[in-house]
Amino acid sequence: MDGVALVVMTIAALLAIIAFLPPLARVFNLPYSVLLAVLGCGLGAVVGLAEPLSLSFYDQPLVDFLGGLGELEISAQGYLWLFLPVLLFETALTLDDRALMDDLAAILGLAVVAVVVTTIVVGVTLNLGSGFSLLACLLLASIIATTDPVAVVAIFREVGAPKRLLSMVEGESLLNDAAAIALFGGFLSALRMGDALDPLTIMSVFAVDFIGGAAFGVLCGRAGGWMLSRLDVGGPAEITLSLALAYLVYGVAEHYLQVSGVVAVVMAGLAFGAKARAELSPGQRDALIAVWRQLAFWASSLIFVLASLLVPDTLRHATWLDVALLLLLIVSALVARAAVLYGLLPALSRLRLSEHVDWRHRVVMLWGGLRGALTLVLALSVSESSLVSADVQQFVGILATSFVLFTLLVQATTLRPLMRWLRLDELTGLETYIKDSALELSHREIVDAVQDAAAKYGLDIGTAREIKDLYAKRLEAIVRPSEVGETMLRDQLQSALATLTSKELELYVEERARRMISRGTGMRLINDGSRLLDALRIRGLQGYRSEARRQHDYARWMRLAVFIHQRFNVHGPLSGLLAVRSEMLLVRRRALVMLEEFVSSDIEPIFGPRVAESTTKFIEARQQDIDRHLNAIRLQYPIFWQELGGRYLSRIALRLEGNAYQRLEREGLISSQIVRHLGREVIAKRRSFGRVPSLDLGLDVQTLVSRLPIFSSLEDQKLRNLTRLLRPRLALPDQKILRRGDSGDAMYFIASGAVEVRMPTGKVTLGTGEFFGEMALVDGRPRSADVVAMGFCKLLVLKRDAFQRFLYRHPELSSQVRAIAAERRSAHL
Ligand code: CMP
Repeated sequence: MDGVALVVMTIAALLAIIAFLPPLARVFNLPYSVLLAVLGCGLGAVVGLAEPLSLSFYDQPLVDFLGGLGELEISAQGYLWLFLPVLLFETALTLDDRALMDDLAAILGLAVVAVVVTTIVVGVTLNLGSGFSLLACLLLASIIATTDPVAVVAIFREVGAPKRLLSMVEGESLLNDAAAIALFGGFLSALRMGDALDPLTIMSVFAVDFIGGAAFGVLCGRAGGWMLSRLDVGGPAEITLSLALAYLVYGVAEHYLQVSGVVAVVMAGLAFGAKARAELSPGQRDALIAVWRQLAFWASSLIFVLASLLVPDTLRHATWLDVALLLLLIVSALVARAAVLYGLLPALSRLRLSEHVDWRHRVVMLWGGLRGALTLVLALSVSESSLVSADVQQFVGILATSFVLFTLLVQATTLRPLMRWLRLDELTGLETYIKDSALELSHREIVDAVQDAAAKYGLDIGTAREIKDLYAKRLEAIVRPSEVGETMLRDQLQSALATLTSKELELYVEERARRMISRGTGMRLINDGSRLLDALRIRGLQGYRSEARRQHDYARWMRLAVFIHQRFNVHGPLSGLLAVRSEMLLVRRRALVMLEEFVSSDIEPIFGPRVAESTTKFIEARQQDIDRHLNAIRLQYPIFWQELGGRYLSRIALRLEGNAYQRLEREGLISSQIVRHLGREVIAKRRSFGRVPSLDLGLDVQTLVSRLPIFSSLEDQKLRNLTRLLRPRLALPDQKILRRGDSGDAMYFIASGAVEVRMPTGKVTLGTGEFFGEMALVDGRPRSADVVAMGFCKLLVLKRDAFQRFLYRHPELSSQVRAIAAERRSAHL
């Protein structure tokens, strides 16, 4: 067998072996990459041995397989081109870009600083110990500077480390791959240009590579994401697009633009992933991720096995000096990583740029800094580079590969005992409590169900009773603490709220996927939900409370819209934002009602009535807050409110309609053709309910003037003239319209709504038809009180110069205003 057939069969045989490794890894409780390396090295050794041995006594297939493995030697460039885009794109795609953005400073700091520190520390140490040129040592150091997080991530997942820590480790490894490769490129081109170490050249190559790659990647990722929203046909098309994107971005960046393809792929993956999360339904997204996981599994397995095939051959030339250098390398790499973990990380968390990392987690991060396939491939590419001297090739090859083996065979295999020694695997008091509750709950159900089942299906009652007794005994064995302490109670409450908030997030994701809410609203709700969860994790119950309240405040955009409205008399942005905000509040309100049900069905059985009650209080506080805001809208804009509610209900009805058709189809009662037909109608109807209804702010000056009794006596002409002097203005609930002590530039008539006048001596409420802000204009003194809107208020503003004209033209009104101002002034004396 030869040619294509041989290659295909060899790869198939390799995959067949690889398929058994994940279960084996689970049996031995080892990171999967360790087994891959062992497999690769083992096969490499056999291939190496097989040549001098006569193979004639082997079966032909085995001869073919070993021969095929020899044939498979792709160049390092081949590995980089074939596998790297897949590996990087997959990690970036699945990483939560928001989590990454939240900790961007810390992650970037860790990734870039850690790579640079490791490269310098290791490079300089080896230079002192080995006699090789500094540049050659730095090249080697940059190759081993990047870490593979699989082992750390697996352990952190298992022991339930904070999610933020996990995304930090994953994000770090992603960006440090990019940083190390960019640095490696700098050193390699410096080596090519002659052995001179010009830091400026290296830095500039590094910077151009990094920044150029990042910009190109983001651009392509966005463009890909944009196309994603146009395709909208489900499954294969989107996945194909994403695969093409990964390779094209890498290729174009490396080949045509001469910037870092690695950085470009990472950024493209992040940008594309963010868009995919926003655009695709959960089902489509899961399909996309599943395919990428599979691709990455193949890529990482093959790259590992194929790269480690060459390890035995490389290590054949190793000498005792290399062993000594390896020890130096190991110690200096650990020292460099420790410097980052114990120097930089605490500094970052003190600056509140990252989460505080527990010392035990830090030890795991230190010892778990494994090196993986990327290091092997980079070392390989050095040994292929004709411009690097044979000495350096061997030096880099031997040390890099043996270092990878050391991290995999020594560090990785001892990581779990270390974890146990650190007692990271022990359950906390809270976890034990939850575990016991879950046990109790499930056992109680079983005890009840077993006998019923036996009776129902006519089975042996005796056996049923035995099983029942068994479970009843186990139930008795669970010792629950009779008195739950305050700290424990708080932990339980926090855990219950975290469960609840995750549930809330799920609800929003579902609503969005079912197109019950517009994309923008969905995205905002999801983002707010994640922020709430983070606030709870980092700042506890107080953090949850204040973040929940903050989310109902008027956001920055709203304040900008208010400014545009007041300043330029342009109402569009304000009405648009108010409409979206109303929809958001409405959906959130509904989610909270569902959460209350979830508390009684799921939280109470696990945590007990006391925690359930407190949890409900938190939810109720949020509901009341929302109700207050929604009531303000309902009072001022009843028609809009009705329309909004109506549309929402219609969408609920449409969803139920869709569900009903699908159920009928599943049960075989109607054909899929009919369902498609009906579905089309549902989609058409849904489109008509697509957008949030527009909100007319109702700021027509003439209508507003007609509501004010003070102007009712004016003749038509005068009224028209007056209308020209007045400007409409909407005040938001709780907005401070006037501030005590400011100078007066206008007075205000309340066309609808109410305001509160807050004076040092007390409060007064002014309602529709009344006016305020006249005193400063009449007496020329500073504002005498704060004036705050109590709900939405429609106001008519009369500016200072218009006010003078108004007094002049309407003497009768003028005396009325002056009289009231004088009366109010007397209240201040
Ligand atoms: P000015 O002083 O310009 O700004 C604050 C406004 O609050 C003030 O004008 C009045 O319009 C209003 N105000 C102050 N005191 C009273 C009061 N006692 N009763 C009603 N309104 C008042």
